[in-house]
Amino acid sequence: RTEVARAALERLVVDVPDFPEPGVVFKDITPLLADHDGLTAVVAALAEAGRDGDGTPVVDKVVGMEARGFILAAPVALALGAGFVPVRKAGKLPREAHAVSYALEYAEATLELHRDAIAPGERVLLVDDVLATGGTVRATRELVAACGGTPVGVSVLMELGFLAGREVVGDLPVHSIAVI
Ligand code: PRP
Repeated sequence: RTEVARAALERLVVDVPDFPEPGVVFKDITPLLADHDGLTAVVAALAEAGRDGDGTPVVDKVVGMEARGFILAAPVALALGAGFVPVRKAGKLPREAHAVSYALEYAEATLELHRDAIAPGERVLLVDDVLATGGTVRATRELVAACGGTPVGVSVLMELGFLAGREVVGDLPVHSIAVI
């Protein structure tokens, strides 16, 4: 499954140089999302991280991080027979939320999660498009823990290996379709 998904990534993710700023190569996943076979392949591969060795789903909730994580996490949740939960940027959630702030290169970011979105003891898979510095995943992991949930792993399309985000994430298993 991962091989088929990796081929879809190679075929359909477009590198955009100097976006959003000079020197950055942006990975545009919109052509992948627009391709039914490609989307099907990556959703199936992402969901593998939420199954045991026999293929049985082992998660209660799938969390997606704003914004591209939403698009991938919702179909992964359906594939696993689980619910979808959004982690949002500050100020977007309407009800009582946990908040975690973390450092960006020159600023600070805050992510939030509704307090009742995950019940104590629920098992949670984190899904996003890219693992870069790892700050987003680490903050999300803390939010899930604040609800009393148990993060079981993180599943991403692409991991920017040179940024070593995996080390920031800690002991949570990281499943990447491609390391670039
Ligand atoms: C990107 C990406 C991940 C995060 C990874 O989101 O979709 O969520 O950055 O970076 P990190 O590992 O360094 O934390 P972005 O903040 O650009 O949000 P967007 O999807 O709303 O554009």
